Amino acid sequence: MTLRLGDVAPDFEADTTEGRIRFHAWLGTSWGVLFSHPKNYTPVCTTELGYTAKLKGEFDKRNVKAIGLSVDKLDDHHGWSKDILETQGTALNFPLIADADRKVSDLYDMIHPNASDTFTVRSVFVIDPNKKVRLTLTYPASTGRNFDEILRVIDSLQLTDRYKVATPVNWKQGEDVIIVPAVGNDDAKKLFPAGWKELKPYLRVVPQPKE
Ligand code: BEZ
Repeated sequence: MTLRLGDVAPDFEADTTEGRIRFHAWLGTSWGVLFSHPKNYTPVCTTELGYTAKLKGEFDKRNVKAIGLSVDKLDDHHGWSKDILETQGTALNFPLIADADRKVSDLYDMIHPNASDTFTVRSVFVIDPNKKVRLTLTYPASTGRNFDEILRVIDSLQLTDRYKVATPVNWKQGEDVIIVPAVGNDDAKKLFPAGWKELKPYLRVVPQPKE
């Protein structure tokens, strides 16, 4: 099933390194980042999982739960976790789904048969507290993803939800943002009483709202 932005993220039940979960219940009121790995005991995945574990504090600050997936058995996941700790210096601190029957991979269309019919591609789904898909990203197996970029997108999405602002090209935390086009000037005056810089009627720049 191809998932598009705004779709409800499909619910599922699965075994993970932290026990059996039902996805929606496990997410609760948090945001989620669900990401797939082509296979256990592969080098790029090992670095990605270690780095994601290091970002736990950043995910917590944003009310985000991370969850990985690999199409291998739970026992293999436990063996691989030891390697992640040994080589990356951080133990897994989020669940890794054991998707040996590819139930979840199929549900989220993570196997692209013309790339490989056994490995998943590197998919990422950012899911909001209403269980809506807010970001999809697909990388090839040989390219590690940029998890700092995933955090950056979550920051942007959360700013949009809270303050009705969008983020411009290459935006970074603390830089100016843009009032979303759907907010007319009358409403913008209430939301941004200090005013804005109007470069064009459709391009209204304000400092990033303080959290
Ligand atoms: C990796 O995770 O290192 C990997 C997996 C499949 C192909 C190439 C690299």
